[in-house]
Amino acid sequence: MTDSSHLAFTPEVEAATRPLYERLRDVIPEVEWPVHAPLIARINELKQERNAVLVVHNYQVPEIFHTVADYTGDSLGMAQYGADTDADVIVVCGVRFMAETAKILSPEKTVLLPDMDAGCSLAASITGEDVRKLREQYPGVPVVTYVNAYADVRAEADICCTSANAVQVVESLGSDRVIFVPDGYLGRYVATQTDVEIIYWEGACEVHERFTGEELRNYRSDYPDIEIIAHPECPPDVLAEADFVGSTSGMIKHVAERHPERVVLVTECTMSDNVAVEFPDTDFVRPCNLCPHMKRISLPKILRSLENLEPEIHVDPDIAARARLSLERMLAVGRGPGQG
Ligand code: 13P
Ligand code: SF4
Repeated sequence: MTDSSHLAFTPEVEAATRPLYERLRDVIPEVEWPVHAPLIARINELKQERNAVLVVHNYQVPEIFHTVADYTGDSLGMAQYGADTDADVIVVCGVRFMAETAKILSPEKTVLLPDMDAGCSLAASITGEDVRKLREQYPGVPVVTYVNAYADVRAEADICCTSANAVQVVESLGSDRVIFVPDGYLGRYVATQTDVEIIYWEGACEVHERFTGEELRNYRSDYPDIEIIAHPECPPDVLAEADFVGSTSGMIKHVAERHPERVVLVTECTMSDNVAVEFPDTDFVRPCNLCPHMKRISLPKILRSLENLEPEIHVDPDIAARARLSLERMLAVGRGPGQG
């Protein structure tokens, strides 16, 4: 165990982190920087010592996203990066199903999740037993699981998908009917994009299900020029108001390509702070729906994880071997068009 309790905002740390802060001053109050900077400096040192990489989801706070990440992106990108890295240690700054993905694809590596209680309402909505029952109910119909599910569910499925490739994955199976779990709204969105019949599971993301079509119509009447970009975990009446629908990285790519004057990203609200740093000329209207699970990850917890090499993610080897097949089938399909 190492001890970082002596960390201080010394003149050296101040000087070394000043350029970083200059980029972030619009999204991080100056008064907070002396708290973050020593942690950031020590985390970046420890990453070298441990041969570790930090894989960071788009919903993580700017003081993590812009300072200590080796990779930032959506669930699919995190999975692809985790599968390819040579590091000995992968620290997943996201939620538990993402850390399970990393462990399943890299069983020989140490995979750390700085807070084991970082869950997900979608992943919690279904078990492997539920999938077995669906198979009995619909014999011969293939099962696609959104990757926002735990390893036992993925082990029972034929293939995984993310929001970036759900339509391509469903169509890759060559079946006219598909069971889609656990996100009922994503399933409904996929059904609008394909002729394949979708049998849904009624799970929902507790963040995206809170948006309403009325809220977006109000944005449009307040700002007639606004570009509305939504995540497909949102309900259908929300997606009906959107100019573009995509995964978190697909949304960022869309902003990068179109440079709208004003935009609303209809998703977890921290992402707007992260993206605003890259696009200072775009006005981000920011609804605030936070994911309490993503927000469990913090700089002090990341530091503790790297110091102590825990908490470590473990997946039962038999379940992991079967879940790996459904992940590998997904990775072979790749990313959907326009999705970053
Ligand atoms: P993506 O980043 O893959 O779009 O997923 C969004 C999400 O809710 C992850 O928890
Ligand atoms: Fe799960 Fe929604 Fe949070 Fe993503 S944003 S981790 S889908 S609860």
